[in-house]
Amino acid sequence: MEHQAEAKLLSPTRRELLQASIELTNHTLSYIKSMALRCAVQLGVADAIHRCGGQVSLDGLLATLSLSPSKLPYLRHVMRVLTASGVFAQADGGGYRLTPVSMLLLSDTGDDGGCRSLLQLVQLKLSPFCVSPATKLAEWFTTKDEETPFAMTFGTDWWGLCGRDPGFGVFFNGAMACDSRFLMDEVIHEKGDVFDGVTSMVDVAGGTDGAAKSVAAAFPHIKCTVLDFPQVINGIPAAGQVEFAAGDMMDFIPQADALLLKFVLHDWNDEDCVNILKRCKEAICSREQKGKLIIIDVVVGSPSQATCHEAKILFDLLISTLTPGWERDEKEWSGLFKEAGFRETTSSHLC
Ligand SMILES: C[S@@+](CC[C@H](N)C(=O)[O-])C[C@H]1O[C@@H](n2cnc3c(N)ncnc32)[C@H](O)[C@@H]1O
Repeated sequence: MEHQAEAKLLSPTRRELLQASIELTNHTLSYIKSMALRCAVQLGVADAIHRCGGQVSLDGLLATLSLSPSKLPYLRHVMRVLTASGVFAQADGGGYRLTPVSMLLLSDTGDDGGCRSLLQLVQLKLSPFCVSPATKLAEWFTTKDEETPFAMTFGTDWWGLCGRDPGFGVFFNGAMACDSRFLMDEVIHEKGDVFDGVTSMVDVAGGTDGAAKSVAAAFPHIKCTVLDFPQVINGIPAAGQVEFAAGDMMDFIPQADALLLKFVLHDWNDEDCVNILKRCKEAICSREQKGKLIIIDVVVGSPSQATCHEAKILFDLLISTLTPGWERDEKEWSGLFKEAGFRETTSSHLC
């Protein structure tokens, strides 16, 4: 029986091969979905539908976007791909409407200061800074010296490009701040008890306008400090309980009851992660009371819905093309904590 099953696998029927060829076409053209999304983001389709009251015909969309009538069939094709993938939906009586996915692409989400928009993050992920390195993946596998496909593409690492090209730095920091507004809203709502008993917190490598701001707004008694490179935070005025400290986390991290590392460790290899974790341990253990290190990052393979698992493994491969880091599974995380000397750890999952 086993032998027969194997033989069948090796000799697919004509019908199976035809089906396989269709699947292969879909895998091969997956990037067209991303590019249709990029096109919609650049044209501002979600905002246009929103401006039209949440529903618009194809002609109405063309007019709202101020596009030439000759582009109408092409706009229909872009919208057909994006409605088939659930980014937009077909409206009753024709035309298009927003879905929860495209609501995240609105540039202004109303009274919440844009905390439910992921537009800037999507713009970054669909930009040549993230897309071009992925086209060099196979070339990178066959080289010895280049650290990442990103460095191969841009001649410097991610932080080097942020320093060399201030426009890129602003673009990147804006995207991370957008991620923080969205995610911290969820973290504070779902896991806010992690901040119980905390009176001071350092957001290590916290960027420009990120997690610390959300924590300070939700817990006004917590004095928050953001540590990041001088070129990232110099010039940002202290706001409320959030202060900024310029420095290199590899060398020194200011003391606090709690430290936060949000989407930092996934940028680094194991050796650098252990170094960062050791610096964190020094900063919380030099206090009289035992401190707390809060890490917000991806755990590959943790109990997840299929959509969440797919997002994690795709994000992992993206991060691996951009930085020397990757997304870790539970065992890899435990190994890092042990190596850095942390004994008590607990984990909790959002998805
Ligand atoms: C992926 S971003 C995460 C930013 C922020 N934690 C967030 O989630 O929005 C990584 C951050 O690490 C900062 N960074 C990288 N190397 C650093 C270093 N050696 N010392 C301090 N900050 C550093 C970058 O400037 C950037 O703001």
